[in-house]
Amino acid sequence: MKTVLILFGGRSAEHEISLLSARFVIDSLDPTEFRALLCGIDKAGRWHRLSPEQLPSTNDPRHVSVDASAPRAWLEPMPPLHGARHVLCIEGQEPEPFDVVFPVLHGPYGEDGCLQGLLELAAVPYVGSGVAASAVGMDKLLQKRVLAHAELPLVPWIAFERAAYRATPDACLARAAALGFPSFVKPANMGSSLGVSKVRRLEELSAAVDLALELDTTVLVEQGLEAPREIEFAILGNDSPEVSEAGEIVVEHADGWYSYDAKYLDPKGARLVAPAPLAPAERRALQLLALKSYRVLGCAGLARVDLFVSGTDAFVNEVNTLPGFTALSMFPRLWKEGGVDGPRLVTRLLALAFERYEVRRVLRTSR
Ligand SMILES: Nc1ncnc2c1ncn2[C@@H]1O[C@H](COP(=O)(O)OP(=O)(O)O)[C@@H](O)[C@H]1O
Ligand SMILES: [Mg+2]
Repeated sequence: MKTVLILFGGRSAEHEISLLSARFVIDSLDPTEFRALLCGIDKAGRWHRLSPEQLPSTNDPRHVSVDASAPRAWLEPMPPLHGARHVLCIEGQEPEPFDVVFPVLHGPYGEDGCLQGLLELAAVPYVGSGVAASAVGMDKLLQKRVLAHAELPLVPWIAFERAAYRATPDACLARAAALGFPSFVKPANMGSSLGVSKVRRLEELSAAVDLALELDTTVLVEQGLEAPREIEFAILGNDSPEVSEAGEIVVEHADGWYSYDAKYLDPKGARLVAPAPLAPAERRALQLLALKSYRVLGCAGLARVDLFVSGTDAFVNEVNTLPGFTALSMFPRLWKEGGVDGPRLVTRLLALAFERYEVRRVLRTSR
């Protein structure tokens, strides 16, 4: 029997979604092989030891939170003494041992390499990508540079920093306007469509830049595709990753794109279609594009790769290294389509975590 430390919540705008994802992961743990140890991270970033009953069992993100009065908990950022197990330290209680970490966290501090750095220092196996792939997966600008270097298809884009915008706003706006309209203005480091604007004409551009700059110091501007198909793939694996069937997001919200409201507030804002209707040759070509993006970023364990399809052209939109894992999310749905249900999926992810850990553990650390 292995103990899985499940981390969820976190100092991120995607805190609530993470709680719903955690519920799915916990419910999917095979009780004959695994035992869950729960640790919720509150919105201030503090860790708390929770019991399974303290995790709400609703599917509504408005009714979930981490009980910040639960005992404080933490991990030491160093390996345990030789032969000892890893432990979660708990205020006023005996430490609890565990074998592997499943970070069910989305967004900054959970998905961006920060937490992965702590887990590397502690030398503990964990689910998902390592520090570098997590960081590049979170930062849309770094991600574009890495994907562009590998000549993967991207929509035309430009980026600038807040300091450059303050110094020469007209030059920055002119570079953005040269992409034409509509365009999409985004903060480089965010998710859930937060801070993203569809800009239809020049007069709307500076307000969109100001909004993006509230969330990050780097702004990205992309040429806007007119109502592209949004096709997503779920990927699983370390050295020989496997790709799922195609899923499709069909936006039905009045915004006309997959905005925050379409994602989370309007229950009819978007439909998730799986499998997506695609001709076999096109589906295969898109699967290969998704797999190549995963490999180029150096992902491990899992990722969801989101593509845009516009006419006969396909573009990589983004790679998510810790995608949504709620009962309704695309990642588990796509695997279910392929015959891998929740328990088998979670067992696979934990096996991949141990595999990656073992491969790296035997690397030489001295001359
Ligand atoms: N270049 C683009 N052309 C058309 N639609 C876009 C473009 N970029 C983003 N969008 C729309 O905005 C949504 C959110 O953008 P995305 O870059 O995926 O941000 P997030 O990381 O917040 O999900 C996309 O799912 C899509 O609906
Ligand atoms: Mg997206």
